[in-house]
Amino acid sequence: AKTVTYDFNVSWVMANPDGLLERKVVGINGQWPLPVIEVDKGDQLVVNMYNGLGDKNASIHFHGMYQNTTSNMDGANMASQCPIGPGSSFTYNFTVDQNGTYWYHCHTDFCYPDGYRQALIVHDSDAYFADQYDEEFTVTMSDWYHDLVEDISFLSLYNPSGAEPIPSAFLFNDTMNSNLAVEPGKTYLIRLINIGAFVGQFFYIEDHTFKIVEIDGVYTEPTEADMLYIAVAQRYAILVTTKNSTDKNYPIVTIVDSDLLDTIPEDLKLNSTNWLEYNASAAHEQAVITYDVSSDIVPFDDITLVPADHMELLPEPDLEINLTVSMNNLRNGNGYAFLNDISYTAPKVPTIYSVMSAGTLADNATVYGEYTHPMILKHNDVVQLVLNNADSGSHPFHLHGHNFQVIDRAPAYGEHFYDYLAGDPVPFDPSNHTAFPAMPARRDTFVLPPQGYYVIRFVADNPGVWMFHCHIDWHLSQGLAMVMIEAPNKIQETHHIPDQAYEVCRAAGVQYEGN
Ligand code: C2O
Repeated sequence: AKTVTYDFNVSWVMANPDGLLERKVVGINGQWPLPVIEVDKGDQLVVNMYNGLGDKNASIHFHGMYQNTTSNMDGANMASQCPIGPGSSFTYNFTVDQNGTYWYHCHTDFCYPDGYRQALIVHDSDAYFADQYDEEFTVTMSDWYHDLVEDISFLSLYNPSGAEPIPSAFLFNDTMNSNLAVEPGKTYLIRLINIGAFVGQFFYIEDHTFKIVEIDGVYTEPTEADMLYIAVAQRYAILVTTKNSTDKNYPIVTIVDSDLLDTIPEDLKLNSTNWLEYNASAAHEQAVITYDVSSDIVPFDDITLVPADHMELLPEPDLEINLTVSMNNLRNGNGYAFLNDISYTAPKVPTIYSVMSAGTLADNATVYGEYTHPMILKHNDVVQLVLNNADSGSHPFHLHGHNFQVIDRAPAYGEHFYDYLAGDPVPFDPSNHTAFPAMPARRDTFVLPPQGYYVIRFVADNPGVWMFHCHIDWHLSQGLAMVMIEAPNKIQETHHIPDQAYEVCRAAGVQYEGN
C-alpha cells in the first residue's frame, strides 16, 4: 500500500460541454472535466482541497467509500463536517479498503451539478475478472444544465407544481461528442457511472451483449445483459467483447428515463418505440444522431445479481426502520420532501461533532435535533430498512458508509418503468414476503419504485454518522434525507477529529461548545 496525494485547487473555470453554451463550472487546478481519482485497494488517499470559488461553499464526498473509523472524512455537509467556505482548506485522508467503481462529488447544498463530480476508481489486479479483458474505460453519464445551480435551486424550491428542472443536455464523459476507440476481437472492461444530479439513463450497445461483473463496488457473478438502467450515483462494470470485423461502428446509446421528466424538452421526443431521443427536427445547433432501440429490449433487473462472494441473506433484523417518502408543496409554494413527515434540515453543528462531545448522552437521539431525523443504530445489529413510496416518482436512495442487501421490491421491474401510474401505493407486508433471495444483490444506491417499496438489510458494523438520502440533488435540497448515527460510543472510541476541521467551522461561522 502507498499514499496517493491529490492537490485540488477548486475554482470556477469556463466550459462548453454540450457545444451549445459556454458557462462557468467548478474546475480543479484550472481544468474541467475534473481529474479521475485512481488508487489501489489498501492505499491511503490524501486530497488537499482549497476552496477558491470565492462565492460558494464546497466539500468532497467519496461516494461509496466506507470510511471505516474516518466518518469525519465523508464530506457530507453538516453531517460529517462544516462546509469548506471560500478561502478555506481541508485535507481528506483515509484508507481505501475496497475495490471497484466509485465517484466523488461535492456534498454541500447545491454544488455538484455545477460540475464538481468525477470518477474514483479503485484498481484491483486480483479481481476474478482481471485476466479477462485487454483494456479498460470509464464512461460517465450525466444530465447537464445551462443555468447555474443556484438559479435552478430557486426554481426547484419556489415551485408550486413541484416540477424538477429540465436538463439542457445529457453528457457522456462530460461532452456530447465522445467515441471509444476499440480494436476488433478484444474484451474491454467498461466502468459506467451516472454522475448526474437527477435523471436515470438506460445504457445499451448496438448488437452487443455484455457481462456485468460489478455493481457499486461489489463484484458479481458474471451476468449477461443487453441493457442497464443506471440511476444517478449508481455504477456498473461490464465486460464487452468487440466483433472480429472492422466494417462497422456501433453506437453506444444512453436513453433518458422519460418518467422522471415532468415535461419533455423541445429538442427531445418519444420515438416510435417509446424511448426518448433527440428530435432532429427541433432547432438544435448540433448535429445529433438519432437511434431507434427496439422496445423489446428490457433493462436488466439488478435485484437478480448474485455477489461473487456468495454472501448469504442476513438473519432476521434486530432493528426494522419503516420510512415513507412523500413530496408536498403546501407551504407557500415551496416544495418539501419528507421521510415519515420529517423534512431533513441540517443541524447547526455537524452531527459527528455532536457525537464526539455528547459523552454518555451520545446514544440519545434528542441530542441531534428532531429535524435531522436521527436514527441510532446499535453496533453489529442487523438493520432492515423498509422504504415505502407514496410519491409517483422514482427515487434513487443512497446510504453512506455501507453497501446493503437488496431483499425485496415492488412493483416488479417492468411495471416500475412502464406501468406504475395504474396502481395505488403498495405497502410492504412482511407476511407476504418470506422468500427473500438466498444470496441477495448488494449495492449502495437503489431505485425506489414509484408508489412501491424497497427493502434492504445491512449490518451496523461501521461506526459513523451516515446520511441516507435521495440522490436527486433537487430532492436532497427539499429534505429527502435523514442521518444514521451508528454505534455512537464506538464513534467516540475510534474517531479523531483533526484541528483543521474545527478551523473550517470557525471560518464558516459555525459556533458550538468547545469551538
Ligand atoms: Cu453520492 Cu450523500 O452522496
